[in-house]
Amino acid sequence: MKAVRIHQFGGPDKLHLEELPTPKPNPGEVLVRILAASVNPVDYKIRNGGYLPDDALPLTLGRDIAGIVELVGEDVEGFSPGDAVYAMLDRNHGGYAEFVAEAAVNCAIKPAAIDFIQAAAVPLAGLTAWQGIFDHGGLKAGQKVLIHGGAGGVGHFAVQFAAARGAQVIATCSGEDMAFVRRLGASEVIDYHKERFEDRVHDVDVVFDLVAGETQDRSWKVLKDGGALISTLKEPDQARARERHVRACHYMAHPDGGELAEIGRLIDAGKVIPNVDRVFPLKDAAGAERELERAHIRGKVVLDVNPDAD
Ligand SMILES: NC(=O)c1ccc[n+]([C@@H]2O[C@H](COP(=O)([O-])OP(=O)(O)OC[C@H]3O[C@@H](n4cnc5c(N)ncnc54)[C@H](OP(=O)(O)O)[C@@H]3O)[C@@H](O)[C@H]2O)c1
Repeated sequence: MKAVRIHQFGGPDKLHLEELPTPKPNPGEVLVRILAASVNPVDYKIRNGGYLPDDALPLTLGRDIAGIVELVGEDVEGFSPGDAVYAMLDRNHGGYAEFVAEAAVNCAIKPAAIDFIQAAAVPLAGLTAWQGIFDHGGLKAGQKVLIHGGAGGVGHFAVQFAAARGAQVIATCSGEDMAFVRRLGASEVIDYHKERFEDRVHDVDVVFDLVAGETQDRSWKVLKDGGALISTLKEPDQARARERHVRACHYMAHPDGGELAEIGRLIDAGKVIPNVDRVFPLKDAAGAERELERAHIRGKVVLDVNPDAD
């Protein structure tokens, strides 16, 4: 099979299209023929170095896939060859490839309402949003959430999930994305280049921080007593959390086929639509990563792994 791998950490030029043996599914795993894979910031962060040790190399990047189950390993229930699935992959499995053998518990049936390209955009960003605002943030209907970075991969799902749950959604983004983020369900949108969110927002139940730095530092004052500050990037200062009478945590998203199935039901109900900004062929994974790292992306960048894609 074809796979895009790195043998050294560094720039996008370190990504190489190679021929590798097709994996075999172990007990508990399914072999998936990948039709689309998506690109996340973690992929270029790993590739740039400093994230994983040298002995992780060589490595096939990519944590998100959508495709067709080709083979089912022993002790797998709920999946059969021919099923259309999507999954967030475990850390040491690569999605920039034509096949992957993945734990069945990490997979879910692909929502029927979307194609494979859109489905590949969902798992890592969608699960990060779900686990951040609901599992860690405890966001409930009627509560107020402030989402920093509402137009990005994770943020555009968080806005839609929170709105679907019946929360009041406030989001920050660049001016050109304000109408997009409003359409996703935010009732208030703030251009972070022009306005300080803390001048407009108060009594927030959950701040979902996808930016860190001074954006996280300025977020304490908008929280109400008993609120929560949840970050994908930086461990918040626990002394300040105690002082402000709020909960605060940093977390790492993890694969979860059950939550992915729940997200799939929202997609099939038309309440959530993944936004794919750009699509690249597998062989140009370098171009896709370059674009996500440097350009302004609305939603997600996806790799088309269909062999006919050029
Ligand atoms: N811990 C975990 O498990 C986990 C999981 C997923 C992601 N992450 C991390 O979380 C971050 C977000 O991920 P992502 O996939 O959503 O990234 P992304 O698609 O690159 O989106 C980031 C968004 O943040 C916006 N932004 C930048 N500076 C901002 C500011 N000061 N105020 C408000 N918005 C700002 C950007 O808007 P502009 O383009 O307009 O500047 C962009 O839309 C990344 O750093 C990623 O590595 C962590």
